[in-house]
Amino acid sequence: MAKQKTVYFCKECGHESSKWMGQCPACKQWNTFVEEKIASSGKQGGAKPLKTSASPMNISEVVMESEERIPTGIGELDRVLGGGIVKGSLSLVGGDPGIGKSTLLLQVCRNMANAGRKVLYISGEESMHQIKMRAERLGTFEQEMLLFCETDLDAICQAILKSKPEFVVIDSIQTMYSEELSSAAGSVSQVREVTAQMMRIAKEENIAVFIVGHVTKEGVVAGPRTLEHMVDTVLYFEGEREAAYRILRGVKNRFGSTNEIGVFEMSGNGLLEVENPSKTMLNGRPLDASGSVVVCSMEGTRPILIEIQALISPTSFQMPRRTAVGIDYNRVNLLMAVLEKRVGLALGGCDAYVNLAGGMRLGEPAIDLGIIMAIASSYKNTALPEDTIIFGEVGLVGEVRAVSGGESRIKEAEKLGFKRCILPKANVDAIKKKPKIHLIGVSNVREALDLI
Ligand code: TYD
Ligand code: MG
Repeated sequence: MAKQKTVYFCKECGHESSKWMGQCPACKQWNTFVEEKIASSGKQGGAKPLKTSASPMNISEVVMESEERIPTGIGELDRVLGGGIVKGSLSLVGGDPGIGKSTLLLQVCRNMANAGRKVLYISGEESMHQIKMRAERLGTFEQEMLLFCETDLDAICQAILKSKPEFVVIDSIQTMYSEELSSAAGSVSQVREVTAQMMRIAKEENIAVFIVGHVTKEGVVAGPRTLEHMVDTVLYFEGEREAAYRILRGVKNRFGSTNEIGVFEMSGNGLLEVENPSKTMLNGRPLDASGSVVVCSMEGTRPILIEIQALISPTSFQMPRRTAVGIDYNRVNLLMAVLEKRVGLALGGCDAYVNLAGGMRLGEPAIDLGIIMAIASSYKNTALPEDTIIFGEVGLVGEVRAVSGGESRIKEAEKLGFKRCILPKANVDAIKKKPKIHLIGVSNVREALDLI
């Protein structure tokens, strides 16, 4: 056996060091270094380079091959990928355990197999029997699809090279291991080695490979974050496990725009596409209730309407309680501070709970004004008209700033039957063609609150 040496890896970003450190110099996280033994044959991280030209080439001489895309048969997934899976690309699907990664990829495999493509599904987590049982729930497989239950990297590579499929799924990266490394499956060096091998196979054989990776908060297995930079596409599957809705978010995409999202609903027969998320998200919304407002957030190129709810009540604790679900907690605190200082709402002695309905998570600043209005509406116990939609970014001085995509947000609101829109004044000025919806431009928080 090759000589072993001990190295340390950062669990978060994969930074390698010869000694243990409290803080990772690359990602500045604390306490993330783990010890690993690796064979010192220099094999780390898939040493063999990709097939490339032997010498530097002029860019004008490089022949353009138009990338060939394989439709997945799932519109929401195609949208996130930028129009289908690119041949010879390596993608990572990350997410909490149990969120539906295996289900989604099995559905993709079924669609592709049914379209007459050769597909290989490799699982290190479930037996053939279990996969078959899951597949039965998902519907019919008209065509053949290859299953392989294996965790040894060598055997997997051989199986891929022998069967030459067009599409391969590795479920999951944390269960696969290479015998050349002595560390356990799921450790940083194993995860990197397996990914590097898959990258080689994908590029050299022109096979599209999807890798599943469980995201762990604090655990022994390495998070997929360590390999984000190695793959072509990174998708994260998010959502509350209890809620039915799941969001597939593109975090990195070498072949298309990122930050597109796909919305799914988990049903008894696998994942269903949600084609009109705004309508779904607003389903069952309370009408004429204080603290409830509808905002519009751009997720990629798609505007999504969603309800924000706030509950403000006098505290009976020493320290007021504050929680935020689906929205950044610090952002909510900041906006409450703006309300206290710029408008004089006495929120200091109040508990505040702010929720985003439907299990979604949003980070766009354009929902700021909606959060502010929801909080003020609950504080004053006065409801906003239910046919009103709100968007706009709020600054520390209390100014309401313009946001991008104003017209598509307005169009979406019109489509869903809204009659009034509270938005930044600068956005109103920029609109050329007057829409049917009544536009109310505001330039600061005070003006907005006067509308309640
Ligand atoms: P799974 O795809 O196994 O999650 P992951 O691979 O991300 O760990 O999804 C598991 C969950 O989905 C499980 O709790 C059961 C549920 N589920 C359904 O509700 N309906 C279905 O048709 C299937 C296949 C799973
Ligand atoms: Mg799974």
